[in-house]
Amino acid sequence: MHMNRPVRSEPSPPVLPLARAPNTAGRIGDRAPFRSQVEDGPVSIAATVRGQLPAWLRGDLVRVAPAVFERDGWRARHWFDALGALLSFRIDGAGVHFRQRLMETEVERASRAGRAPRTSFASPADRGLWSRALSPAPSITDNANVNVVALGDERVALTESPHQWSFDPDTLQLRHLLTYQDRLGHLAMLAHPHFDFARDRVVSAAPAFGATSGIVVYEHAPASRTRTLVGRIPVKRVPYMHAFGLTPRHAILIGHPFDVSSLQLLWSNRGFIDHFAWRPGEGTRLWLVDRATGEVRVHTAAAGFVFHVVNAFEEGGDTAIDVALFPDPSIVRALGTEALLRDGFPDLAPSIVRWRLTPGREPAVAETVLEPGFDFPTVAYRLRSGQRHTVAWGARIARGARRSEIVRLDGQGRTLAYAEPGVVLGEPVLVSAPAATREDDGVLLAVGAATEGDRSVLVVLDAATLEPLAHAEVPLPIPLGFHGSFFRAPAA
Ligand SMILES: [Fe+2]
Repeated sequence: MHMNRPVRSEPSPPVLPLARAPNTAGRIGDRAPFRSQVEDGPVSIAATVRGQLPAWLRGDLVRVAPAVFERDGWRARHWFDALGALLSFRIDGAGVHFRQRLMETEVERASRAGRAPRTSFASPADRGLWSRALSPAPSITDNANVNVVALGDERVALTESPHQWSFDPDTLQLRHLLTYQDRLGHLAMLAHPHFDFARDRVVSAAPAFGATSGIVVYEHAPASRTRTLVGRIPVKRVPYMHAFGLTPRHAILIGHPFDVSSLQLLWSNRGFIDHFAWRPGEGTRLWLVDRATGEVRVHTAAAGFVFHVVNAFEEGGDTAIDVALFPDPSIVRALGTEALLRDGFPDLAPSIVRWRLTPGREPAVAETVLEPGFDFPTVAYRLRSGQRHTVAWGARIARGARRSEIVRLDGQGRTLAYAEPGVVLGEPVLVSAPAATREDDGVLLAVGAATEGDRSVLVVLDAATLEPLAHAEVPLPIPLGFHGSFFRAPAA
């Protein structure tokens, strides 16, 4: 039985003096910005709109978020492992309609019985000895709470797993798992695929664990479920990968020294990331995979940790990749539920760094573009993905997550920022105006929950000025999530 949870008004998590006992009381799911009401059942309500929505803005903003941290004896030990919910804002001539629904994945079903039979990011599995003996490599979570993309006509929720869920755009109900029919096998595919619009291809990557470990880069037509190999990078230890760069010529894979050997993953019930070791002395390797030949070139950079790539492009024989760079992977531990309860939300403001890779010169040239920078970066994807961009946007969340800023960064390093009072906004999604030729001709859509009370808002910002154009508000807490996409309505 899941009752409505009481609304708590909590002060900002304090910066604790060392002598004081850490406050780990309470449940992370009761705290902003993680609170949600998805356990109460699917929601379908009209949002209250203030301001003026652009007349051309028609379609669905669909996002995913970790929403349920604890239930019936089951517990997520990390933000990334909370049970995912789909969240949708449908914008049409009549206004804005909000829907949310808990994803009924296999992991969600098992959690009802207090079970965790599959490996997840940083929470232990509870496979028995026999199960481990018979199948040493554990099955991987299908809790697709990281990203939502279109793969052909299907809308698909993704996590870093072989399991990708197609869902119904109207009801948000899960439909079926995608089935790939090819020889690449059971790959834990990234949740940040790239789209090469010129060649009509989805390009993505996956770690390959086994006797010969590697990183596989593959592609397929968006509607096809037959992947073909672009290239394979052989590695002894496999780095944690969350995103990669793509230009018309290269896929750029980031081998930061936070890695694992395949053997360590076998027979284990620990969370996936708990096997990884930080070995900063090894530095970062950057692999350029030639998309035409599959040839691999390697460059080096100082040790650092990357979740997200801003963009990559070719210039004068060099390849450049802009990333949101953390000094080390301590951010991963800081987002565990115990750390969140004890220390509050960490600063989410990685530096924006450009690595320039020149043929014949192994060390990358690193240039810090913005510090502190932002996470959840985006560019005008259709116009500039794989091409030199001059504008990037992202979200910077301050320690304690009592406030956040949407940041616009231009080619001269100048920034604009927008903060919504009392609301923690997450990733901004750019929607370009119809026939836009300018990168910032369009709007940013950002969603956030109020730090106090049951109220959340979709903010529509002018992408050029960050002026708010409209707000669509709903009377419930929408948990802070990771990523989403805007799916344009078909032309009437
Ligand atoms: Fe991500």
